[in-house]
Amino acid sequence: MKKVYLETYGCQMNVSDSERVASQLVSNGFEIVAEQIDADVVLLNTCSVREKAEQKLYTRVGQIRAAAPPVGSGIGETPIIGVMGCVAQLEGETIFARRAAASGGNNNGGIDFILGTKAVGRIVETIEKALDGRRNFADLDKREDDYDWSVSAAQRHSRHVAFVPIIEGCNKFCTYCIVPFARGREKSLPAAEIIRQIELLKSQNVREVHLIGQNVNSYRPTSDAGLENFRGATAFSCLLRAVAATGIERVKFTTSFPRDFHADIVDALDEHENLCNWVHLPVQSGSNEVLKAMRRGHTIESYLEKIDKIKSSAKSIAVTSDIIVGFPGETDKNFEDTLKMAEYCRFDSAYIFKYSPRLETLAARMENQTPETVKTERFLELEKIVRQSQSAALQKHLGATLKVLAERASTKNIDELSGHTTCHKIVNFKAAGTLPGSVVPVKITAVKTNTLYGETSE
Ligand code: 5AD
Ligand code: SF4
Repeated sequence: MKKVYLETYGCQMNVSDSERVASQLVSNGFEIVAEQIDADVVLLNTCSVREKAEQKLYTRVGQIRAAAPPVGSGIGETPIIGVMGCVAQLEGETIFARRAAASGGNNNGGIDFILGTKAVGRIVETIEKALDGRRNFADLDKREDDYDWSVSAAQRHSRHVAFVPIIEGCNKFCTYCIVPFARGREKSLPAAEIIRQIELLKSQNVREVHLIGQNVNSYRPTSDAGLENFRGATAFSCLLRAVAATGIERVKFTTSFPRDFHADIVDALDEHENLCNWVHLPVQSGSNEVLKAMRRGHTIESYLEKIDKIKSSAKSIAVTSDIIVGFPGETDKNFEDTLKMAEYCRFDSAYIFKYSPRLETLAARMENQTPETVKTERFLELEKIVRQSQSAALQKHLGATLKVLAERASTKNIDELSGHTTCHKIVNFKAAGTLPGSVVPVKITAVKTNTLYGETSE
């Protein structure tokens, strides 16, 4: 039985792709191994939102080759290496030549095959080709019409939480972003299929599903099959109500796109206990000038209106965001607007990114790039504000009892379990007799930078 080791970087969509790739491999007689050194085939599922993603890939390939016994040594062989994910899709066959250049012109022992983001359904035949001796080939073709989006229980990243893709790709072409090039145009999955998957997950005792996509609220299926009995101002809020009606314990969704974030989403969350009180709504900047240059399609006023609507919910909805500092042309005044916006929004947490140019994007060709030192200063200044609101958002739970899904043993303390609240905060807690997979009331007794600590009597 051939052994495959899968290494995954980046977003939930990549994690989800890896889960399906692993499912297909196992059902076709391959074994997934936990250590790269044991593998006949190493698959690297790459992410191009990471800075210097391509360079990091070559470094990683070099490490894997160096760790393997030399060819002909008689102690196993250097593995076949395949590259999937956004870097594979964007670079295509040029990866072979570049990898050769990076290793002094010798491609022997470099990357063996490339599998594009839509080609993941052909992983089995691709690996078989490589095992038959074919090298340096790429499959960047389109997805099969009958691509199977389901994941076998054993290959899910968690036994209790499952990712369910509802839309792939992105049509927005924000000027800094590589995703539309790497993931193609938006395509929504049929609602009936999404509901079927969630019913199945529920029957397998999965407690929490995350509906995932680059922009979940741009969801536009070609037919309303599965949604007929549900109302909603948009297809996405209709889908939320349909998913809530499956009765699964918890439903979360990421990422929301501000322009398409309809107030009816908040109404749906208010109506249904199992639609969780957490929204990830990347603002990117607090300045209308910068938002325009980013082509985000929203103004700061329209964003703040949405924040007000979310915060008016009786459910106390947590809001998280992504913010880019140092976008080309961002002035001190523009950045001050971002600071003001962050003061106003009081995010439960926010990822801050220093702008970094991505080949092919419009922003990479803009003339007025921000110096690195300025990006760093702005990062640190904004981080202070985000840390304050994050800390306040955690502190407010001190002494409260929150429902926590017990997901796994804590990595820090074997006597503790770790899980998330409905508002997606991490809680580590004394386990007593708690069974993983159960939702238990946890009394919060301490707060650290990113984590709540507590205890339960259940
Ligand atoms: N530079 C910096 N941050 C970026 N992001 C996407 N592209 C870039 C880039 N070129 C950030 C955005 C997005 C998150 C996933 O990554 O904030 O929301
Ligand atoms: Fe990138 Fe903008 Fe699409 Fe998000 S919405 S994936 S930031 S292009």
